[in-house]
Amino acid sequence: MKVLVVGGGSREHALCWSLRQDPSVEKIYVAPGNAGTALLADNLPIAAADIDSLVRHARELRPDLTVVGPEAPLCAGIVDAFGRHNLPVFGPARRAAQLEGSKVWMKEIAQRYGIPTAEARSFDDPREAIAFSRGFPFPQVIKADGLASGKGVFIATDFTQSRHAIAALMERRLYGSAGHRILIEAFLEGVELSAFALFDAKQYTVLGFAHDYKRIDDGDRGPNTGGMGAFLPSPLVSPSLLRQIEQSIFSRLHAACLGEKLDYRGVLYAGLMMTREGPFLLEINVRFGDPEAQVLLPTLGTPLSEIARAVCRDDLGDLRLIRHPLSVVGVVIAASGYPDNPRLGDPITISESAGSGADRQGTLFHGATKRDQGSLQVAGGRVFTAVGWGDHLAEARRQAYAQVDTVSFPGMHFRKDIAAFLAGRPVGDLSADPPALLSHRP
Ligand code: AMP
Ligand code: GLY
Repeated sequence: MKVLVVGGGSREHALCWSLRQDPSVEKIYVAPGNAGTALLADNLPIAAADIDSLVRHARELRPDLTVVGPEAPLCAGIVDAFGRHNLPVFGPARRAAQLEGSKVWMKEIAQRYGIPTAEARSFDDPREAIAFSRGFPFPQVIKADGLASGKGVFIATDFTQSRHAIAALMERRLYGSAGHRILIEAFLEGVELSAFALFDAKQYTVLGFAHDYKRIDDGDRGPNTGGMGAFLPSPLVSPSLLRQIEQSIFSRLHAACLGEKLDYRGVLYAGLMMTREGPFLLEINVRFGDPEAQVLLPTLGTPLSEIARAVCRDDLGDLRLIRHPLSVVGVVIAASGYPDNPRLGDPITISESAGSGADRQGTLFHGATKRDQGSLQVAGGRVFTAVGWGDHLAEARRQAYAQVDTVSFPGMHFRKDIAAFLAGRPVGDLSADPPALLSHRP
């Protein structure tokens, strides 16, 4: 079969890598891809958000399956556009993708279907938002309604900060129309968990869990990023917690998709806060996480093409999902100046040992890399994800950092504490025990 992958980050390199191991996949196209995907697939020079060009090319290439990495094309309706030409896509239709595209709507859905989530109010008038904020307990979380590449969320510890965040989003329009409406919500204390499930029109199946590291620096310091590392398995997810997450989050989200007549055939990523009162839904993403995909995909024993085809045909009920009981660690290597102002064009060297060897327990996924007249260069903020796996987290971590050591470029930055510490505690000390779910307040 022929598969088209849409996107150009490390997540999409991991998707291509996973598809490459699948004997039923003869050909992979990726749009636009990166210097790493070029070794596994045919890179097409089309931006992920350019739906018209993607449709045009797909009508010629006739992929049997398209897998969409990033949220922007999903929210812009790539699934609907491909569907009009009978091109099967793994992903939600435009209206369903608004579960990620509008945080206000997502909150309404959570409230309507009884999904635990932080108390919140929405505003389209900055004066009303300011008046509400003054009387609402701190810390409070101020969120732009629309897509802002993970940057439209501010945690305010006092009124000066919340006033500033409201002005930035609603008056100065820091993220354009994404800040036309905002949410002000209660701050939840706990440990975050990324939870993944497959959704088709009939049912859902839990795919797995991972922990993501959002801040740029060790010890969860510095600004938020798209994600600086991830690992699994989660030390928090006991069988009883899994049942709780299924009952209070995924089964209600699936009921919401049915109740609201949303066409959702793809992966749903629930951003959860594990609190003393149980799991709360922070956000919905309508796609694989990045870097979570890079640690999740190596654990799948069932080929991705088989999973995606089952989802597209509403056959999840018949899918036998095999997961390897592996520990996997992913460490993101970022460009100098990321996240605010990544420096582009730095030359990259990768040592010969990278990703080679029959007994290897790791690999290097390219993100923002490109080749310019043969030489490898930094082309954006998150440049690589170094991934390692093993029977235990310590081994996976060792393998991941061994992969980091194969890369070198000026100003490269990575966190040293991935899978060692989580929410300020050694990972080995964490359990589903409620007292362990306390994190530091801002
Ligand atoms: P979101 O895009 O809504 O997931 O928000 C981005 C990040 O902000 C999350 O990953 C959390 O770290 C943090 N966050 C969002 N909502 C809350 C909340 N209600 N309480 C505490 N932290 C939050
Ligand atoms: N790692 C967070 C995200 O993919 O949104």
